[in-house]
Amino acid sequence: MTGRRYLGLVLLAAAGVLDPGSPARGQATTNVPGLVQEGNYDAGNLGMQMQPAPQTDDAGAVYAVGPWPTYTPPLADGEGRELVQSFCGICHSTTYITMQPPLPSATWEAEVNKMIGTFGAPIPEPSAQAIRAYLKSHYTPETRKE
Ligand code: HEC
Repeated sequence: MTGRRYLGLVLLAAAGVLDPGSPARGQATTNVPGLVQEGNYDAGNLGMQMQPAPQTDDAGAVYAVGPWPTYTPPLADGEGRELVQSFCGICHSTTYITMQPPLPSATWEAEVNKMIGTFGAPIPEPSAQAIRAYLKSHYTPETRKE
């Protein structure tokens, strides 16, 4: 055990956290271990938290965050679109498709297989084939328009 960990345990024990019989600070009303109903963040507790070092960003750095998509962008027009809408929208919105960067055909192939094989999407094979074809003809680097 490292010295720091050991020190942490000693501090926890001193605070009464490791002994459910003795109410820890802020737990005067209950003996349920781990249930903290009220308490204070005093300097003693804060010192035990591991915190990341403050970042020193370049003064000239520029950050931009686009608007959070609150609507579902329409899928590209084309054969198979309705199948994608009905099958791929069962568990999550079709934004999951449009928010991806243009993906290679093999990746779409794998995505559809993962939805079916891993997540249990109930998509009959003929529809799955049409869906794969649709995704490949509208959402790869070569075919994606927007
Ligand atoms: C049975 C439910 C279900 C269906 C139906 C479904 N998905 Fe998913 N999909 C998931 C789950 C679960 C995740 C992972 C969600 C997360 O990580 O937030 C996911 C995530 C995704 C992602 C994000 C990338 C990833 O792999 O996590 C894409 C793209 C995606 N789905 C596409 C599709 C497409 C295309 C279809 C139609 C063929 C589809 N999904 C149908 C359950 C489903």
